[in-house]
Amino acid sequence: MVNTKVTLSGLRLDNPVIPASGTFGFGYEFAELYDINILGSFSFKGTTAAPRFGNPTPRIAECTGGMINSVGLQNPGIDAVIAHELPKLKACFHKPVIANISGFSLEEYVHCCEKIDREEQVGLIEVNVSCPNVHNGGMAFGTCPESAAEVTRAVKAVTKKPVYIKLSPNVTDIAEIARACEEAGADGISLINTLLGMRIDLKTRKPVIANKMGGFSGSAIFPVALRMVYQVYEAVRIPIIGMGGVSAAEDVVEMMLAGATAVQIGAANLINPYASKEIIEQLPRVMERMGIKNLEEIIGGAH
Ligand code: SIN
Repeated sequence: MVNTKVTLSGLRLDNPVIPASGTFGFGYEFAELYDINILGSFSFKGTTAAPRFGNPTPRIAECTGGMINSVGLQNPGIDAVIAHELPKLKACFHKPVIANISGFSLEEYVHCCEKIDREEQVGLIEVNVSCPNVHNGGMAFGTCPESAAEVTRAVKAVTKKPVYIKLSPNVTDIAEIARACEEAGADGISLINTLLGMRIDLKTRKPVIANKMGGFSGSAIFPVALRMVYQVYEAVRIPIIGMGGVSAAEDVVEMMLAGATAVQIGAANLINPYASKEIIEQLPRVMERMGIKNLEEIIGGAH
């Protein structure tokens, strides 16, 4: 019998598998397919202060080994999430959930974190400073160490829950930004968000996506994500949630060897809504095959 449990800032998870924000709605949608209580946790759709319709369509482009999205943080807004989405989730998910918060100003991040701090089921706040699909917000905060640190300090001042800063790979030195967040008080780092990419339609000779560019995710980005998790592990002492192109239990193990304490599954959920469930089921078999008794012991093992 292998042990798949991991601990993330005091939260004991049955396993490290966490569906990523934007690929799992508010959870209850997937509860119609399977019992989502098998998950370690999950990160709900990026939430802003006001409701957002999101970007014009088309928002999706298919690519070899992945896809590009430019959703533009479509969400019902923090008040509706608290009033309508979280009660529906509570009825079917009995574990702490990760709240993914986005913003267009420091004040907006603070406002959302202050509100979500009061929600009992929220075990951890993931602050997204890395959305590539909006102007004057999102990634703008996460591509420079000073502004990432400023957001971290501001949200830490209004919540007692663990705060993880979700970083962008669209930078020269992700380790420097992770270090700045740690120094500003972050409890952990989530990485990576999507890589900025684009497709051009050969018939129209114009960008496929209305917003021209979007975030590339899927199995093709796994080696990039793994490299960045490895680099950030060497730069900080706080835990890392690794993500980017993870689509099998073997990828979870590889991410953990690079330094992740927990691992998010993103685009794979969009290809196969049972992907996270199947990975959780495969994990003990992969561990047995590799002679791993206790998953927690392999964290950072590649260093
Ligand atoms: C989006 O809603 O545009 C995606 C969110 C993100 O990439 O952070």
